[in-house]
Amino acid sequence: MRMYDLIQKKKNGGVLSKEEISYIVQGYTSGKIPDYQVSALLMAICFQGMNEEETLALTLAMRDSGDTLDLSQIPAIKVDKHSTGGVGDKTSLVLTPIVASLGVPVAKMSGRGLGHTGGTIDKLECFPGFTTALEEERFIHNVKTIGIAIAGQTANLAPADKKLYALRDVTATVAQPSLIASSIMSKKLASGSDAIVLDVKTGNGAFMQNFEDAKGLAEQMVRIGKGAHKTTYAAITDMSQPLGHAVGNTIEVIEAIQALQGNGPSDLMEVVETLGYLMLLAANKVTNQQDATQMIREVINSGAALKRFAEFVEAQGGDASAVYDTNLLPLAPYKLPVYQSKGYVQQIHALEIGNTCMQLGGGRLTKESSIDLSVGIYLCKKVGDAVNPDEPVAYVYANEEEKGRNAVSLVADAYTIAPEKPSEKSAVYACITE
Ligand code: URA
Repeated sequence: MRMYDLIQKKKNGGVLSKEEISYIVQGYTSGKIPDYQVSALLMAICFQGMNEEETLALTLAMRDSGDTLDLSQIPAIKVDKHSTGGVGDKTSLVLTPIVASLGVPVAKMSGRGLGHTGGTIDKLECFPGFTTALEEERFIHNVKTIGIAIAGQTANLAPADKKLYALRDVTATVAQPSLIASSIMSKKLASGSDAIVLDVKTGNGAFMQNFEDAKGLAEQMVRIGKGAHKTTYAAITDMSQPLGHAVGNTIEVIEAIQALQGNGPSDLMEVVETLGYLMLLAANKVTNQQDATQMIREVINSGAALKRFAEFVEAQGGDASAVYDTNLLPLAPYKLPVYQSKGYVQQIHALEIGNTCMQLGGGRLTKESSIDLSVGIYLCKKVGDAVNPDEPVAYVYANEEEKGRNAVSLVADAYTIAPEKPSEKSAVYACITE
């Protein structure tokens, strides 16, 4: 087999066989096939696409390119959850202790924030002492005993994806649905859970800008999950405005704790309850959404989910007292109000809010940069809320006054205000369970 011929085949619209895809993935991971040939192939895929069989073959070859986690010693059905990324998305922090309290263990590999999107690992590191570098034994022990473990991606989990993703990033070949779907699913399949629930975001703060594209990506990932014999469900949720009120790291952790205390914002709770339903469904704990919602609300109201969250923080070396006293978490000293003109909020541009948080120091431009966990933006007014000129629409939390002032004007610009109240919109657009 020659890489040259395979590039030519895809360039001409041909279909690559399972063996050919395996040859490419193995050859690239081992260094035998150079970057320039794989770049050419990726670009050909961007123009010609890949069919269902090719996408599944690529996913499985990337899954098998490194270690796969064996969670079989944990008896219950383990369900993983993945979000395609967004602004203010603290859903995992709220959801995992809820489902763990309901008997669904979560063994999760999470990422750090990149660009305008946040990452669960960064948020958890707001707890002094918290570690996500868990040895496999400790990871499995925590899932067995507490029902939750969240670790950073290990170096040898789907290494082919790691290498391919880095190449796609610099060759303008990221935004191809089959490549995105296989990249995400290869890592999820290597992580060893029995079922996968996907939160596919759509809107200006997400990868997929419109509903149709998000639905296409969600369906593709659900088909891959089925092809790999894993129960896989997906929800398509809104990312045209940030999720909840808080954007940043510490500030989002505080909002997640408030949600676990029963005071979560309505859009966040709608997403949490929907994904919670899908996770409980995948674990055979419920057959309908109504029962799931009731169970989820019960573990919040009883305090069981919050207690589980504190146990999880402690089990990973974090200071669990901060769960009950959030003043112990690092929040920036400058709190600057943002004002807008009278009317109703029509839009809060999620991407612009995410970028502003990054400029405050709360996000990273490259995977290597360090970030400031204490900065952020609190959006008091969300889409549909009435605005008075003497009442702040948001607050900026900054460590330097000048950066804060700059962020205030950017946050004000991210708001669109108009005289009419916009029609109400759900935070969840669709679920795919078939
Ligand atoms: N996230 C991934 O892991 N891979 C992609 O290709 C896009 C988003």
